[in-house]
Amino acid sequence: MTRDTGDGPLPDGGTDATGADEVALDPWGSSTVDDYRKLFEEFGIEEFDDVLGEVPSPHYLMRRGVIFGHRDYRPVAEAMRNDEPFAALSGFMPTGDPHVGHKLVFDEIIWHQQRGGDAYGLIADLEAHAARDLSWEEIDEHTESYLLSLIALGFDPEEGEIYRQSTNREVQDLAFELGTKANFSELGAIYDFDGETEVSYMQSVVTQMADILYPQLDDPKPTVIPVGPDQDPHMRLARDLAARMRFFKVTEAYASFELEDDERELAARAYEALVDDADDADVRCVEAADWLEEESPDAPALWEAVEKLRSGGKEPLRPRVRFVDQNATDEAFEALIGAVDGEKRVYEGHVDAFEMDHEAAAELAREIEVDHGGYGFLPPSSIYHRFMTGLTGGKMSSSVPASHISLLDDPEDGYDKVKAATTGGRETAELQRELGGKPDECPVYELYAYLLAEADDDFAARVYEECATGERLCGDCKEQAAELMAEFLAEHQEKREEARELLAETDVQLESDRR
Ligand code: TRP
Ligand code: SF4
Repeated sequence: MTRDTGDGPLPDGGTDATGADEVALDPWGSSTVDDYRKLFEEFGIEEFDDVLGEVPSPHYLMRRGVIFGHRDYRPVAEAMRNDEPFAALSGFMPTGDPHVGHKLVFDEIIWHQQRGGDAYGLIADLEAHAARDLSWEEIDEHTESYLLSLIALGFDPEEGEIYRQSTNREVQDLAFELGTKANFSELGAIYDFDGETEVSYMQSVVTQMADILYPQLDDPKPTVIPVGPDQDPHMRLARDLAARMRFFKVTEAYASFELEDDERELAARAYEALVDDADDADVRCVEAADWLEEESPDAPALWEAVEKLRSGGKEPLRPRVRFVDQNATDEAFEALIGAVDGEKRVYEGHVDAFEMDHEAAAELAREIEVDHGGYGFLPPSSIYHRFMTGLTGGKMSSSVPASHISLLDDPEDGYDKVKAATTGGRETAELQRELGGKPDECPVYELYAYLLAEADDDFAARVYEECATGERLCGDCKEQAAELMAEFLAEHQEKREEARELLAETDVQLESDRR
């Protein structure tokens, strides 16, 4: 697969496996996500290519399709373009040594920091303790290692913030608060929790929710969470919880009573159909009910909508935006009523505004909330990167050393691992010259595209083309990759040593008090 970006085809970053019938998004499972396209259809993740054009000088991981998907990244790209505040945050479970897969995420955080974002890197030590059963000694050791690599790769700890879940009191307080908005059945449905699931496991979920919203504690701002697609269930829950924390929910409405989303659509349809014929006269609720029964007898939610509209009787249908009071204080609700422009009507738990558009209403609701001590959270955004294929084929796994290159591997070991990697090459050199190799199925090509070619698109494209046309043979190709890998590791490890000083200057506690 190639993508056309104007200056010729760019090689795609990863394997494009198809054929899996099921996509499981399980943050603690070991399944690989092998059909990314299904993620778009089933879970509503959007293709990154669709926003690529809105991102100023996109990162090479974005250009090469390694970052393949997103949820709601537009507000972040817009903030970046307009020099407005935004943030990027991701978290790492300190379960082993950081490896080249983690480097992707480090790079994503660092890139957003260099674009002017508030950047956060956190160590998910509570999660590692709860979900992976790691002792605090092990956790401490790996914590330092992750942070050294993050800084060595360019994270500025003075401008940004690094923290451990276990020592961040604000995160824990926010987690507790968010826990008031989710119940056990919901977590059970999302994460397959059951009666045997440990309570700490659930606590680590709300802790992650708090991590994700932490950059907005002082001010609401667009925030991107770069993660693998296995973390998407967390993103969906975080977006829901962010909305549930809001003082007001801003919706569209047609009459004084509440309608569900699908019922509201029907009311809208009836209203649009009838308003032209009504000649200045009002469209009444009962008329809309009659019209719907006549015109859309098979629509889902028809009965519910008709029943509600009938009981509305002669009340006229009129489009409006509605501010529903979810968690507002009395003062905030009063202030909102005062601040709504134009004609309005005040009800028990909501205010209807007849002359405001949705956007202005949403802005006002957030302003009032923040002025009255609320968070006013924006729903957090996410970007998703492909998982790297293991060097031995299959999944790259921290527990299989030969499958991945640790950022702590001796350069010679890194060299050897690349030399021993499986490839997308043919059985013989002759066949390879004749048919070309299969870079899309080659973990070595991935190393070039994800890491070794760095920002040099021409180099990555050359490797891809030379391979696909049979000009490049695996022996030489691996030799080149192995040398680049050894160089990268040597340089990275030097920078890790230099990073020690910067890390010591932060207030991150490297030895846990916990036992
Ligand atoms: N659950 C993540 C993992 O398994 C780690 C994590 C914790 C995280 N908090 C986060 C990731 C916040 C992104 C944002 O690796
Ligand atoms: Fe992979 Fe290189 Fe062989 Fe192509 S030539 S299959 S990229 S190792």
